[in-house]
Amino acid sequence: MKFLQELGLKDINPGTYTGDAWSSDESAGLIESHNPATGELLGSVYSASESDYEQIIKTAQAAAKEWRRVPAPQRGEAVRLVADALRKHKDALGSLVSAEMGKIKSEGDGEVQEMIDMADFAVGQSRMLYGNTMHSERPGHRMYDQWHPLGVVGIISAFNFPVAVWSWNAFIAAICGNISVWKPSPKTPLCGVAVQNICNKALKDHGYPPIFMLFNDGGNELAKTFVDDTRVDLLSFTGSTQVGKQVGVQVAKRMGRSLLELGGNNGLIVDKSADLKLAVPAIVFGAVGTAGQRCTTTRRLFVHEDIADELIDKVVNAYQQVKIGNPLDKDTLMGPLIDGVSVQNFLNTVNRAKEAGGEVLTGGKPHGDGPGFFVEPCIIKAESDWEVVQTETFAPILYVMTYSDLDEVIEQHNSVAHGLSSALFTNDIRQAEQFLSAGGSDCGIANVNIGTSGAEIGGAFGGEKETGGGREAGSDAWKAYMRRQTNTINYSTDLPLAQGIKFDI
Ligand code: UN1
Repeated sequence: MKFLQELGLKDINPGTYTGDAWSSDESAGLIESHNPATGELLGSVYSASESDYEQIIKTAQAAAKEWRRVPAPQRGEAVRLVADALRKHKDALGSLVSAEMGKIKSEGDGEVQEMIDMADFAVGQSRMLYGNTMHSERPGHRMYDQWHPLGVVGIISAFNFPVAVWSWNAFIAAICGNISVWKPSPKTPLCGVAVQNICNKALKDHGYPPIFMLFNDGGNELAKTFVDDTRVDLLSFTGSTQVGKQVGVQVAKRMGRSLLELGGNNGLIVDKSADLKLAVPAIVFGAVGTAGQRCTTTRRLFVHEDIADELIDKVVNAYQQVKIGNPLDKDTLMGPLIDGVSVQNFLNTVNRAKEAGGEVLTGGKPHGDGPGFFVEPCIIKAESDWEVVQTETFAPILYVMTYSDLDEVIEQHNSVAHGLSSALFTNDIRQAEQFLSAGGSDCGIANVNIGTSGAEIGGAFGGEKETGGGREAGSDAWKAYMRRQTNTINYSTDLPLAQGIKFDI
C-alpha cells in the first residue's frame, strides 16, 4: 500500500521515540496491527521495554527544561511547521487511519483535518496565553496572574481517534511550553509511528528540538507506570470510564493532574416543531458514523409522540440505505468495528435489549461472511430506564423512546451516568433556551439543531459526571496544560499587610 510507504512505515517498525532517536530495543516484542475490514497484517511495531520508558521520561524531562524558555510564539511556529507537513500528508495519513481503525476514508481525512485545525488554533493561541491583572488593595502594589508550563504531559489515547485526540493535547501542550509523551492505543500503533515520523521531519528540517515523544505498549504494565509516574506532570487520558476512574484515582493519589475524556451515553431529542430534514441526517451520522465508536455517538433518541412514527420511519429507511463495507471504498458509509470483542459486545447488548422487551426496528446482526468485523447498525425501541439503555455500548446501537413533555424528557435525558454530548432539534425558541439553561442538559456539550457528534475544535471538548470533567481543544482548555502563578510586586517604600493587619515590630 502506497500510503504506508509515504508515511515511512515498514513491515516492522520501532515503536519508541525517545527524543534522541528511535529505540532499537526489541526485547518487549512486537505489536501487530491488522486491518479490521480485511484481517490483513498492516505492519508491526516494537513494544517499549522498561529501559525505553526510563529513557523517554528522562529525555522528556531534560527537554522540558529547555522548551519552557522558548518564547511561546516561537513554540507556535514549531506547531505551524508540523501543520504544514500534515497538510502534505493528509491523504496518506487519512488512508492509514481508515485502514488501521476502520472509519471511512472521508472520516479518516476529517481526522487529519481536525489535527490541522487544531494546529492552526494552537498557533494563534501561542500569542494569547493571557493572565489577568488584578487591582491590589495595597497602595504601590501590582498584582497579576502568569501562566507557566507544567513540564511533561503524558497522553494516553484511544483507538477510535488514533491521531486527532493526540493533536488536541500535544499541540496545545507544545505551545504552552511542555514536552509531550504519547502512548497510543495498542489497536492503532502504526498511526502513532506515522504521526511521529511526520513531526520528527518537520521539526528537524527547521532546527527545532524534539518536543513530541512516543512509546507503544502492547500490555498495560508500562501504562500503569506512566500513570503513577510523578515525573509526568499532567496525564491526559481518553478511553473508557472504567479505566478512566482508575487513572483519575491513581493520579490524584500522587497529587498529579489528570485530564479525563471518558465515555458518553449521548441523547438527541426531537421536538414536534423540528425540521426533520436536519434531524434525520444528524441522527444517522451521529449513530452510524465511525460505526458508533465515537465517544460522542448518538446512543439515545427521544422523539415527540406527535412525530414519532414519521421520524422513526425516516430514520429506519435511511439506515437501510447505509452501505457497509471496506472503509477505503468511496461509497462506503460504515466500516467495521475495531475487533471481534466489539462485535460480541454489540451482539450481546442487542440480546440484552431484546430480553428487556426492546423491539429491534432494523439491524442488530453480523454483516457479511468475510474476515472483517462488520455489523448491521441497529435501532431498538426501548424505555429510558432500562439498564441496557443507561449503559454505554461502544457500537452502532440506537435506542428510541417517545415523550410528550420537555421537562420530563430532559429528566430522562439527564438520568444516565455520563454527561458528554447532547442535542435538541426544535424550531421553538423557548424549548431551545430551556434545553441550554441551567435546568436543561447536564452535558459538557449541548447543541440545538446540530447532532451530538462531530464537534469543532474551537470549542472546549469534554463532559461531566462519568465522562470525567476534562476539557480539551479550544476555548480556554489550554489552561489545563499550564500552572498559574499569582505575582504581587511592591514598588512602594512601605510594607502594608493585606486585610489591614497591623504587625509592628
Ligand atoms: C471521541 O470520540 O473520542 O465530536 C472524540 C466528535 C469528534 C471527536 C470525538 N470531533 O465526534
